[in-house]
Amino acid sequence: MEPFPETPIIRVDELYGREKEVSRLRQLVIEKRRWVALIGPRAVGKTSLARAFASYYSSETGKPVVYSNFAGIHNFTEFVERFGLDVANLVHEDKLRLKRISMGVKFFEAVLEKEDGVSIAPKNPGAVFDEVMKALPEGALLVWDEVQDIRTERNKLLAALWRLHNVLADRRPTIIFTGSAMGLFKKLLSPEYDDYLYGRAPVRVDIEPWDVQTGVEFLKSGLLAAGNVDFSLEELQEASAELGGFPGYLSSYGRGRIDGLTHRRALRSAREEAVKRAMSELRSFVNLRPQRKYQRKVIALLNAMGEGVSRPSSLARLSGLTEVSVVNTLETLLDMGIVEKQSKSKVVSIYLFKYKFYQEAALRIKS
Ligand SMILES: Nc1ncnc2c1ncn2[C@@H]1O[C@H](COP(=O)(O)OP(=O)(O)O)[C@@H](O)[C@H]1O
Ligand SMILES: [Mg+2]
Repeated sequence: MEPFPETPIIRVDELYGREKEVSRLRQLVIEKRRWVALIGPRAVGKTSLARAFASYYSSETGKPVVYSNFAGIHNFTEFVERFGLDVANLVHEDKLRLKRISMGVKFFEAVLEKEDGVSIAPKNPGAVFDEVMKALPEGALLVWDEVQDIRTERNKLLAALWRLHNVLADRRPTIIFTGSAMGLFKKLLSPEYDDYLYGRAPVRVDIEPWDVQTGVEFLKSGLLAAGNVDFSLEELQEASAELGGFPGYLSSYGRGRIDGLTHRRALRSAREEAVKRAMSELRSFVNLRPQRKYQRKVIALLNAMGEGVSRPSSLARLSGLTEVSVVNTLETLLDMGIVEKQSKSKVVSIYLFKYKFYQEAALRIKS
């Protein structure tokens, strides 16, 4: 295999340094048939882990997998459309055989046959969703990537999941959700939702970046495999530390070196990519708020954090948000794994970005 591919890893034997996570998934998904939520920031390797595990699942159990990416999907209708088309595509390619004829899938097959770019929304997406689910073969694994962008009709999706539990019970498919711990995804993991699903809300599994040493070893093994790069361990240490141990940005650095860039230039370009991706993640975070006025305040809060302001009271003053909403916002960023909290006294905590590229991104984001 070529080292540091640009696309996610899809085979478990090509997945580096995620043995613990794979065995946790094995235990939860294969042994206990639980739903799982893989949480982590961009480029930490959620898609790679989910997809590689999915192909492992398929080869271990002989059951099919349906992968869907919901990045940029904002409502339930679009959600059902995306999922239905993914199922119809697999059926079309003979990679998935349904348990019975599904009008829902027939509908999406008809949509597929239209010209490119023509999209026809289902009239009753809830019913279509239920129908497609019922037609899936038993033991199917669904990977629902990037589910955090749904802004409206969240309750329709949550209710559809509730119906899966109730109507299909043990015959329901297993789902691996991935995304950032914001918006819908946060709700899915909340205790109230767990009650609603009789204690069967997805099990949260946090995906962390690697420690510096693992990052160094990852770079070293890829660069040695490429064979054409003259590198030093100090360089790899600097890159791993600067890039926060994020597999995606380390891969980008590794590709740069293989393409002949110097250490400095490869690091600069990987860092720039990290800032851009962090900005787009923060942008989605801001956009989850329906009101422009509120979005602007959250941006002012991020800008102030970018400048190094870390106390909730100061952040409230600078952003125009109340201190309660500042703390709520900061707690969400904490939950997303991109800020850390330090106690200054019994009553005061400060919040700092864990990685320099997020701080830089927060500084650059504009209304
Ligand atoms: N465990 C891993 N081993 C090797 N490469 C990885 C691993 N995890 C991620 N990568 C690399 O990092 C890039 C970003 O990972 P991805 O899975 O897309 O992250 P996320 O879904 O969290 O944004 C991938 O294209 C892949 O090349
Ligand atoms: Mg991803």
